[in-house]
Amino acid sequence: EKVVLAYSGGLDTTAIIPWLKENYDYDVICCCVDCGQGEELDGLEERAKLSGASKLYIEDIVDEFCDDYIVPCVQADAVYENKYLLGTSMARPGIAKKLVEIARKEGAVAICHGATGKGNDQIRFELAIKALAPDVKIIAPWRNDKWNMQSREDEIAYCKAHGIDLPFSADSSYSRDRNLWHISHEGLELEDPSLEPNYDHLLVLGVSPEKAPDEGEYVTMTFEAGVPTSVNGKKMKVSDIIRELNTLGGKHGIGIIDIVENRVVGMKSRGVYETPGGTILMEAHRQLEELVLDRDTMNAKKDMGNKMAQLVYEGKWFTPLREAVQAFVESTQKYVTGEVKFKLYKGNIIKAGTTSPYSLYSESLASFTTGDLYDHHDAEGFITLFGLPLKVRAMKMLELDKT
Ligand code: ARG
Ligand code: SIN
Repeated sequence: EKVVLAYSGGLDTTAIIPWLKENYDYDVICCCVDCGQGEELDGLEERAKLSGASKLYIEDIVDEFCDDYIVPCVQADAVYENKYLLGTSMARPGIAKKLVEIARKEGAVAICHGATGKGNDQIRFELAIKALAPDVKIIAPWRNDKWNMQSREDEIAYCKAHGIDLPFSADSSYSRDRNLWHISHEGLELEDPSLEPNYDHLLVLGVSPEKAPDEGEYVTMTFEAGVPTSVNGKKMKVSDIIRELNTLGGKHGIGIIDIVENRVVGMKSRGVYETPGGTILMEAHRQLEELVLDRDTMNAKKDMGNKMAQLVYEGKWFTPLREAVQAFVESTQKYVTGEVKFKLYKGNIIKAGTTSPYSLYSESLASFTTGDLYDHHDAEGFITLFGLPLKVRAMKMLELDKT
């Protein structure tokens, strides 16, 4: 029998290979899903085989990650707890989908992942697997009684005892998760919220605002029906747009956030996220929506965006509600077409002009001249009715005061 293991090549997932063979006697099929983590994938096959895997799949889902997960979340303006742009959360369902696909192809009976029992990732992987392949068994070694490794040293010793002699460093840095959209950092000094993050040590995708250039940089972007289509006049697919914005944003200290967030499992956890390109992309999209969406749609969309963020964070991607929310959002994007210009300057994204053929902004309406569309006298009657409930209440209060 076979098991498909979500494999990164790191120490944790490497130690899982001999452990699965020892405890389940499975054939281990490793699957490394590339979401743009920017890691060296050369040599991964030898490494997996050397560790006892019978096969390694390397699956590039970067474009699918962008088109099917990132774009809908950008359009929804999905932000968790006002700050987190969901980089890890959005990637998990895509990874799980690929694991299921490989499991089917290989006729595997189980899927195994290396997420711990304290986090969100276990929930996201497992809800996605349950939704797509309810018959497949899920193995989470870190929650398993037969897993008795507590530290990197334990894992290295376990690997050595099973004839796996690979160069693993004993030092444990931050717990990180990287993909095209972001990198997350948890652990070390971040575990104490009273401490300032050691940014010089921590940052990977860019610099802090203090270290950014003193000179700002203008960027122009276009969108068509809510999908980004170009940066600085160059037409590109979404993944290349995010790469380009990551470079620009990283250089100017954009998109570094420090948050104490509420995990699904109940605990608060402190993390720092770098989302340079994503922060720019979402702000640019908002900048355009301001111009083209009507007031009521914008309001309703805010609620839907929060709903989407909650669903994505909680791992409920493959659900009817996520599909319905996404459908709502998609229908609002029909006219989100136009050009957005802004300046990047020391961690800030400063608006520098927006245009759209579908702009609802009317200069003559907004300026002070009275025209056919708007008669100032109409405002008087409107205010009478609009203010009626609060006026009635105030009159009652006056009356009560007197008695
Ligand atoms: N706290 C973030 C989230 O829940 C990031 C998790 C990072 N995951 C990791 N395996 N390091 O989405
Ligand atoms: C983990 O515990 O595997 C990472 C953190 C998280 O999932 O939230």
